[in-house]
Amino acid sequence: MKVIALANHKGGVGKSTTAINLSALLARDGERVLLIDADAQHNSSDFYCPDYEGPTLTDVLTGDCEPVWTESVTHTAWENLDMLCADMRLLKLDLAAVLNDPHADGAASEKRLYDFLKIVRDDDAYDYVIIDCPPSFTAASVAALVCCDEMILPTRADAFSRAGALEMIQQVRSLGAYHIAPRCRVLVTMADRSRLSRQVIDQLKADGLDVFEAVVHSSVCVGESSYTRLPLYEYAPRSRAAQDYEQLLREVRDDE
Ligand SMILES: Nc1ncnc2c1ncn2[C@@H]1O[C@H](COP(=O)(O)OP(=O)(O)OP(=O)(O)O)[C@@H](O)[C@H]1O
Ligand SMILES: [Mg+2]
Repeated sequence: MKVIALANHKGGVGKSTTAINLSALLARDGERVLLIDADAQHNSSDFYCPDYEGPTLTDVLTGDCEPVWTESVTHTAWENLDMLCADMRLLKLDLAAVLNDPHADGAASEKRLYDFLKIVRDDDAYDYVIIDCPPSFTAASVAALVCCDEMILPTRADAFSRAGALEMIQQVRSLGAYHIAPRCRVLVTMADRSRLSRQVIDQLKADGLDVFEAVVHSSVCVGESSYTRLPLYEYAPRSRAAQDYEQLLREVRDDE
């Protein structure tokens, strides 16, 4: 079982879009996938489980989850794809920590996701766990980052994003609390055919970062597919962005 977190403290860079589409492609190809939504905005939960009302990641992090882990995850309409959903209560965990609430218990919440995934791993229930992180360091994202094997950092190809990517990777490397720091790979998203896009990609590589060959190009189909709640390979399989995600899938699976 491989745990991959989609993370970047910069917002709107394609974390959820990538989590949704990478999970869909892995599941389509027969991999057993658990998608964990670690963002209080619950975008990936809304995509796959819009009417869901059961236990969520908040319950796992607070220790209020069902004793049997399978009771906390839910099947989606897609074969091989289950979800541990998010809800707005994730915000309360962070608020409690900021307000120095003695019951906030931040360190324990990190360990709880780690322990949850350890049981899932021992049960050999999934081949991949994909975690959609929020655009900041929160209780949920730190919990995800300390237990993932790999972090994929989606980023736009512009100058500010490059600096942010370098900082984020340094931060994550310093987090290795429960096991060795995860592998960090950069995925350029919403690219166009401009010279700037190309230059930023070359610079990221020159900075010594591990950058996917796959580059996800900007496409109106992405927003439309989210609206219709169909993964890109179903909604617009021939679109450039759908093809780019197929390339990402190949690179992720090449590591198996
Ligand atoms: N390749 C793409 N082409 C066009 N639009 C895209 C592409 N990828 C993502 N988008 C759009 O950009 C917006 C942000 O994408 P997304 O929600 O995946 O980013 P995010 O990093 O998860 O954001 P947040 O930080 O708020 O969680 C969405 O409206 C999405 O539809
Ligand atoms: Mg998101």
